[in-house]
Amino acid sequence: MTDSANALPAAASGTFRLGGDLTVNRLGFGTMQLTGKGVWGWPDDREAPVAVLRRAVELGVNLIDTADAYGPFVTDAFIREALHPYADDLVIATKVGFTRQGPNEWIPVGRPEYLRQQTELNLRNLGVDRIDLLQLHRIDPKVPLEDQLGELKALQDEGKVRHIGLSEVSVDEVKAAREIAEIVSVQNLFNLTNRKSSALLEYAEAEGIGFIPWFPLATGKLSGEGSPLAELAARHGSTPSQLALAWLLRKSPVLLPIPGTSSVAHLEENVAGASIELTDEEFAELDALS
Ligand SMILES: NC(=O)c1ccc[n+]([C@@H]2O[C@H](COP(=O)([O-])OP(=O)(O)OC[C@H]3O[C@@H](n4cnc5c(N)ncnc54)[C@H](OP(=O)(O)O)[C@@H]3O)[C@@H](O)[C@H]2O)c1
Repeated sequence: MTDSANALPAAASGTFRLGGDLTVNRLGFGTMQLTGKGVWGWPDDREAPVAVLRRAVELGVNLIDTADAYGPFVTDAFIREALHPYADDLVIATKVGFTRQGPNEWIPVGRPEYLRQQTELNLRNLGVDRIDLLQLHRIDPKVPLEDQLGELKALQDEGKVRHIGLSEVSVDEVKAAREIAEIVSVQNLFNLTNRKSSALLEYAEAEGIGFIPWFPLATGKLSGEGSPLAELAARHGSTPSQLALAWLLRKSPVLLPIPGTSSVAHLEENVAGASIELTDEEFAELDALS
């Protein structure tokens, strides 16, 4: 990264090399809040998501998480409108493997022809020749793992996908997947108040695999005045969201939080959290909350 890129606020979160060759600032951005209600359709305001995405990149965010299923294809369209042609250092991580039936309805489908179709549509809708990081949104229990991962590996061999990741998986599932394809990242629910994926985090750290914690702010429950972190944040002179993100950044060097927001003000607040350095005592106090 250039010196000017290093001076941007998100760079304070430090960097991680995905798959050994894609360097990203560890504090990224998740796009799921940019759609209509229930992650379905368009939001009422179509200007705001474009402004949020542009501001994220201005602040040095260069890992953006999306999925064909967000909208579907609403967030891909916003990313393209806001950021295409893409900066060389921007990593767009997308996902395939979920079908949508309506607001808040999600059914995994891992049949190879569907995964291929959705990868092709992600390429077309994002306007790229190759997807930097393609994550299998869910393993479909009805389809053999080797068929699902085998298809993603075939797409990688064809040059359409640079790296492969997984989402909502156990350690055993990652181990099984790695027999079929190289896995550079996992994306599981993980935040201060939900640490069910701690064993996966330990595994990812030991293996140098990126861990993208979704719901890093517990969908906003860790943010704002009603947050369980409110008192600590006031003492610290920061905000609850910033503390929740600072805890994740300090917890493990492989954690790559992707807080989501539809507001430029919240985005700016969250990215400023990248520069918070917790003392050992502050980290221990946060770590003791669960
Ligand atoms: N792999 C998966 O299965 C999976 C599942 C879920 C999510 N994800 C990914 O993870 C990303 C993050 O999850 P998420 O966006 O659902 O949840 P989140 O990041 O934990 O929280 C987002 C919520 O917090 C609020 N918020 C954000 N910053 C705030 C601030 N500074 N002050 C007050 N409120 C704030 C947002 O509202 P405002 O819009 O009002 O700011 C929004 O309601 C998603 O965008 C998506 O990319 C992946």
